[in-house]
Amino acid sequence: TGGIITLDPGFKNTGSCESAITFLDGEKGILHYRGYSIEELAEKAEFLEVAYLLIFGELPNKEQLDKFHDDIKHQSVVDEDVKKILDAFPKSAHPMGVLSSLTSALTAFNPSSVDVRSEEAMYKSIVKILGKFPVLVSWTLRKKMGQPLNYGSTSLGYVENVLQMMFSQPNEEYVLNPIVVEALDKLLILHADHEQNCSTSTVRIAGSSHAGLFVSLASGISALWGPLHGGANQAVIEMLEAIQKDGGDTKKYMAKAKDKEDPFRLMGFGHRVYKNFDPRAKIIKKAADAILNDLGIEDPILDIAKGLEKEALEDSYFVDRKLYPNVDFYSGVIYRALGIPTDMFTVMFALGRLPGWIAQWREMRLNKEPIGRPRQIYIGKTLRPFIPVEER
Ligand code: SDX
Repeated sequence: TGGIITLDPGFKNTGSCESAITFLDGEKGILHYRGYSIEELAEKAEFLEVAYLLIFGELPNKEQLDKFHDDIKHQSVVDEDVKKILDAFPKSAHPMGVLSSLTSALTAFNPSSVDVRSEEAMYKSIVKILGKFPVLVSWTLRKKMGQPLNYGSTSLGYVENVLQMMFSQPNEEYVLNPIVVEALDKLLILHADHEQNCSTSTVRIAGSSHAGLFVSLASGISALWGPLHGGANQAVIEMLEAIQKDGGDTKKYMAKAKDKEDPFRLMGFGHRVYKNFDPRAKIIKKAADAILNDLGIEDPILDIAKGLEKEALEDSYFVDRKLYPNVDFYSGVIYRALGIPTDMFTVMFALGRLPGWIAQWREMRLNKEPIGRPRQIYIGKTLRPFIPVEER
């Protein structure tokens, strides 16, 4: 339309929408879901309550929560045909690639047109994916481990179900450890939404073309996979293990992180919005100590992480650039303690972020937002004539 185009790579100073879901203050390290502080929710709420809050805007009363959970439980079976997609993957496939494909496959059973026909239709799609996604998460792990696939049990809580489907084995009784259940519940709450981050913006822009909820979520899973975003939780542990192998030589990795010639970055450090501490990292760091202690686990990786954090917080390179530990820095220590394999960490991030993605997609559709279509500044060739190949 010939209007003014402002170039803003990475949308660092661009507001893509108005939203009533999550509030961040990067300077003060504040995070609120629908007006409730992350500290209170992580302490006092359970994940399914927070999912309901993010999606529908209010904390559910007991009756609403029970109905929400019941509706979800009755969706925890996945069509047998989806297993054919799972079978097509080699065991070595990264679980995030498997999860994204399985999530897309669910569209076969939930045409995108259904989603927004009415509030009731949208509710049905929402409880469908909240019920089936944990099954897909467990299938990605069990595929990797060569174990038989599981289904949800309607007698368990949401997070209990996730653990039971991931870890129970046919030949032994699986005993749920309340410490593990509570730790995972808290981690999922801390990952549940984070305003217009990379993967949420991807879900919104995919949905803005009126692609269905499930395929929009699949696009968000792909964006989350990147090591600069949700994939960082896996990259952090791989970095800490490398430092451990190097005899705990954190100085060498600090130097690499500061060397402009070296593409290496200190994974789990820095954030586009938080220019002070990431409130989630503070909570997770405290929880990591408590959970390892409660489970009687001594993990040298945690000590290496703390040493690295201490060094970075005293190093002018990091201080000047306001680089602090983010949500991904300590979360992997807890996932390890819960027995979750490293390449499943980002899958767990996706499980936590699912209600946030759903809430943001729903808000975008209910607000009837236009299709996302940014412009560009063209710097390529000016018009030139075609030359036949014989003359080139
Ligand atoms: C998540 O957006 C969200 O809300 C995301 C998230 C969510 O909940 O959805 O919070 C989840 O993705 C957390 C971030 C996980 N990623 C990592 O831990 C990967 C490591 N961190 C970075 O790559 C980086 O800090 C980002 C990607 C998180 C933020 O990048 P920005 O905002 O684009 O900042 P930048 O890359 O422009 O860096 C600014 C400066 C640069 O140095 P100079 O060019 O100014 O000299 O800081 C340096 C960078 O080189 N820098 C780092 C660094 N992060 C930034 N240097 C070393 N190690 C790092 N980790």
